[in-house]
Amino acid sequence: MGNVAVIGAQWGDEGKGKVVDWLASRADIVVRFQGGHNAGHTLVVGNETYKLSLLPSGLVRGKLGIIGNGVVIDPEALLAEIERVRAQGLRVDPETLRIAENAVLILPVHSALDRAREDARGDRRIGTTGRGIGPAYEDKVARRAIRICDLAEPETIADKLDELLLHHNTLLRGLGAATFSKQELYDRLLAIAPKILPFAEPVWERLDEARRAGKRILFEGAQAVMLDVDHGTYPFVTSSNTVAATAASGSGTGPSSIGTVLGIAKAYTTRVGAGPFPTELHDDIGKQLGERGHEFGTVTGRRRRCGWFNAAMVRQAVKVGGIHGLALTKLDVLDGFPELHICTGYMIDGKAFRHLPAGQAAQAAAQPVYEVMEGWQGSCRGARSWAALPAQAIKYVRRIEELVEAPVTLVSTSPERDDTILVRDPFEG
Ligand code: IMP
Repeated sequence: MGNVAVIGAQWGDEGKGKVVDWLASRADIVVRFQGGHNAGHTLVVGNETYKLSLLPSGLVRGKLGIIGNGVVIDPEALLAEIERVRAQGLRVDPETLRIAENAVLILPVHSALDRAREDARGDRRIGTTGRGIGPAYEDKVARRAIRICDLAEPETIADKLDELLLHHNTLLRGLGAATFSKQELYDRLLAIAPKILPFAEPVWERLDEARRAGKRILFEGAQAVMLDVDHGTYPFVTSSNTVAATAASGSGTGPSSIGTVLGIAKAYTTRVGAGPFPTELHDDIGKQLGERGHEFGTVTGRRRRCGWFNAAMVRQAVKVGGIHGLALTKLDVLDGFPELHICTGYMIDGKAFRHLPAGQAAQAAAQPVYEVMEGWQGSCRGARSWAALPAQAIKYVRRIEELVEAPVTLVSTSPERDDTILVRDPFEG
């Protein structure tokens, strides 16, 4: 029995929450390995709706949750989220949640810098979530970050704050934003330390034991391949690697532990934030997709941009993300459209491309090449078997499989957990 990693195959918000929740119910441990509280997963269980940002989804199913070293953690946001879900009846304590002691902290300076830089960019803004994700990862690679383990060492915190503030206050001042006092940050960190430290441990060791005991581990990705800092639509990306390979380095295990990689893709495309989006629709169809699909960001509340399914892009995500199979979500949102378009490649300055080139100007200029398919009359909503799908909807799924060069192993047909067509159980490989 293998492990499973779940990653987004587009620009995020693919409906990972539902798929991860279903998989979590069959796993022993659920591990977050990158990103931070920029992510947002909505899980509907019975009458309760849980909105998780930083906590691994498995907690909702009573499974051990692990936050790996690849995650950037805003400790105040984490404690607030724990309080919120505890009020909904979830058990979150050091027996159900473990946090890598070597994970990096997001401090109030990071979100302040994130927002100040976005404001200064004006029309060239990235559309970040403003949560300090980028600046925290920058501090990590610059070797000045404060980590979870430092909370046990007040003198290390004091020492690191000097270097950190030298850098950040200089920048904030230059951007005309308010600066931070060392004492204030120090006091805030010392106040939260006793609440966070009981969760901290070398999680790599626990994962090693779990692996040797044959436990099932689910690696829960955040954001998506096209937001990957290397492979995405740079610079309109997040600041971490979102591909499946990060599940290993972001939690402290080897690449062979990752197991089957399930990519999640919507049956159409959405994006929040700025950046290239070749199949974006500015017409009534785009509006209808947004309304029917309830396309508003969980974290930002912003309206998502909508467009046709981009098979060329998902094919690229399959290759660079190491995706073995796809979960196709929200197929029911396409019910009733007379025609559906699928992007199979691009034209850029008169030249044909099968993939999105890396250059920023080329990406902005990419014009989609479409294949047009007939839509379907019946409804996919709530279907739990292929037989319950309109024939034309099955053709649409089959064509996607061919174009993206990966099998569709799961189809989701409504927000309900059981409205799912399972072709192959990812835990079975
Ligand atoms: P950051 O991760 O806050 O730095 O934002 C960088 C880009 O990633 C922006 O375009 C965000 O809208 C996007 N982004 C970050 N997290 C998510 C997510 O969970 N879903 C979709 N887009 C996201």
